[in-house]
Amino acid sequence: MASPAAAGSASVGVGVPKIPEFLAATAGGRPVPAVGLGTASFPFGEKDVRAAALAALELGYRHLDTASLYGSERAVGEAVAEAVRRGVVASREEVFVTTKMWCSQSHPDLVLPSLRESLQNLQMEYVDLYLIHWPVATKPGKPQFPIKREDIVPMDLSGVWRAMEECHRLGLARMIGVSNFTTTKLQQLLSIAEIPPAVNQVEMNPIWQQKKLIEFCKDKGIHVTAYSPLGGQGMSNAVLRCEVLEEISKARGKSVAQISLRWIYEQGASMVVKSLKLERLKENMEIFNWELSDEDRLKIGQIPQHKKVRLTGILSSEGTTSVDLAELDVVEM
Ligand SMILES: NC(=O)c1ccc[n+]([C@@H]2O[C@H](COP(=O)([O-])OP(=O)(O)OC[C@H]3O[C@@H](n4cnc5c(N)ncnc54)[C@H](OP(=O)(O)O)[C@@H]3O)[C@@H](O)[C@H]2O)c1
Repeated sequence: MASPAAAGSASVGVGVPKIPEFLAATAGGRPVPAVGLGTASFPFGEKDVRAAALAALELGYRHLDTASLYGSERAVGEAVAEAVRRGVVASREEVFVTTKMWCSQSHPDLVLPSLRESLQNLQMEYVDLYLIHWPVATKPGKPQFPIKREDIVPMDLSGVWRAMEECHRLGLARMIGVSNFTTTKLQQLLSIAEIPPAVNQVEMNPIWQQKKLIEFCKDKGIHVTAYSPLGGQGMSNAVLRCEVLEEISKARGKSVAQISLRWIYEQGASMVVKSLKLERLKENMEIFNWELSDEDRLKIGQIPQHKKVRLTGILSSEGTTSVDLAELDVVEM
């Protein structure tokens, strides 16, 4: 994985700050802007996403993260089209767009049609990055959340990845990758892939630092993108309430959110952070012209670890499955 020092800068209009980029290892791959806008809101849908994405592009964001599950693809596409119309960006090419295939689409014969459907929603010819959302397959159908336990079926990872590779060869996905993959799942994938995954998008922040996974991905040339970089949505936010981060935030004159995002950037990972508020969109990209001290990094390195997003958390509480969930819901430190 590229270090911040190796990161380049996206080109943006005069007076708009540049967000640095990481070079993903894939041949012909696109640089990944270090900070992107997450567009998953709960409940899922496109409410306010178009305005937030357009505001983000005006501020200098060049990376938008969506998924077939989120119901935000259409709004993301509209924001990009509007940004082109208004001259905020010169063309769609300037924006790095990621979307993801849901578990109900993770079947060899459904990958390409699912990407075509996402492109139709986005009104785009290609996405910059197409991801397998989870290493889990459910019965074919429209994306549903939470997943019904009885809908889980064994996943044909090899067949699904072949279809992902085909999406790349057809030019519909400039890069292909995965999300929520552990080192074990990545190893399985690397043993069968002709085109290795360019990116693994995972939960990552000072409360869930992913040290083992980060090292593994660095070694294999897989770029890591952090999701829930502020600890995710909802009241029980262990990142924004972390005393160690609060202490550092006071000493540095930065917000707790900025301390968390800066720490992620210094790990060599890009991140997708969600906000629908203009002030926060600005705050979340002001992390590049200062750095943490060695002492800050040491303190953050000692924060007790807690994983928030678990497979069981995206499943219905009732019902049974014949698939071994323990094999899928692995927590790696
Ligand atoms: N691949 C996956 O399985 C997966 C899973 C989860 C998420 N994601 C992606 O990652 C994105 C981000 O993750 P996330 O949405 O879970 O959570 P997050 O970005 O860690 O946190 C978002 C929450 O923090 C608030 N917030 C944003 N900026 C803030 C700031 N500067 N100060 C205080 N609060 C702030 C937001 O509220 P306001 O909107 O009110 O500002 C929102 O409630 C998602 O939108 C999605 O695109 C991917």
